[in-house]
Amino acid sequence: MAVIELTGVSVDYGSAMPLAGVSVTLAGGSTAVMGPSGSGKSTLLRVIAGAQVPTTGSVCIDGRPVRRATWATPSDVRVAMIYQDYRLVQFLTVRENVLLAAELRGASCDSATVERQLSRVLLEPDVADRLPSTLSGGQQQRVAIARALVTGASVIVADEPTGALDGENTRRVADVLASLSERDGLTVVVATHDPAVASHMQSCLALECGALKAAVA
Ligand SMILES: Nc1ncnc2c1ncn2[C@@H]1O[C@H](COP(=O)(O)OP(=O)(O)OP(=O)(O)O)[C@@H](O)[C@H]1O
Ligand SMILES: [Mg+2]
Repeated sequence: MAVIELTGVSVDYGSAMPLAGVSVTLAGGSTAVMGPSGSGKSTLLRVIAGAQVPTTGSVCIDGRPVRRATWATPSDVRVAMIYQDYRLVQFLTVRENVLLAAELRGASCDSATVERQLSRVLLEPDVADRLPSTLSGGQQQRVAIARALVTGASVIVADEPTGALDGENTRRVADVLASLSERDGLTVVVATHDPAVASHMQSCLALECGALKAAVA
């Protein structure tokens, strides 16, 4: 399991300072990050992924600094991000979306691999040749998770992954994310406003006034 270590991480936007000297070690497993709107959840997740450089402090995964994103690689290769709005490429099929993600990360992938990743997120193989627009939101989010898995990342960072889903689909997506850490040994960090999602995770932290505190979902 990948260990994420933040040391003295601050993000100062000038008008807001959502992270003010955060030091925390996430030693694998699944973690929910809660906190009111504007408290810095998305900022924290971007910093963990290397998609944003903190104003001060450092972020390491397994003792090595998270690599800063470049135009060609939107985050450190050890981390994959999941978003509330899925961010699938609409004119590519599910299979092509997954293959493209693998190709961009230099991971090997064939059609059998795509179908194996789909089954990990509880999607049937026939979904592979459909366009995202023909799938429900819950199915699209699970495709986004399969696309993250195929990159070989050991850390999955999900920013309000169930924010656009109904109760049943929320439960399915939260189950899949939790099982990735419990069954497959990935390190999963999920920002959420939903206590039901947080309760699926092994631990829960809350951002409050720039600090990260232990919380109960
Ligand atoms: N690029 C930026 N420039 C300036 N301020 C920013 C920027 N990004 C975020 N902020 C501010 O930083 C604070 C934290 O934002 P962030 O998006 O991380 O919060 P959040 O907890 O994810 O909120 P939400 O629950 O609404 O998604 C907010 O006050 C926001 O307005
Ligand atoms: Mg946010």
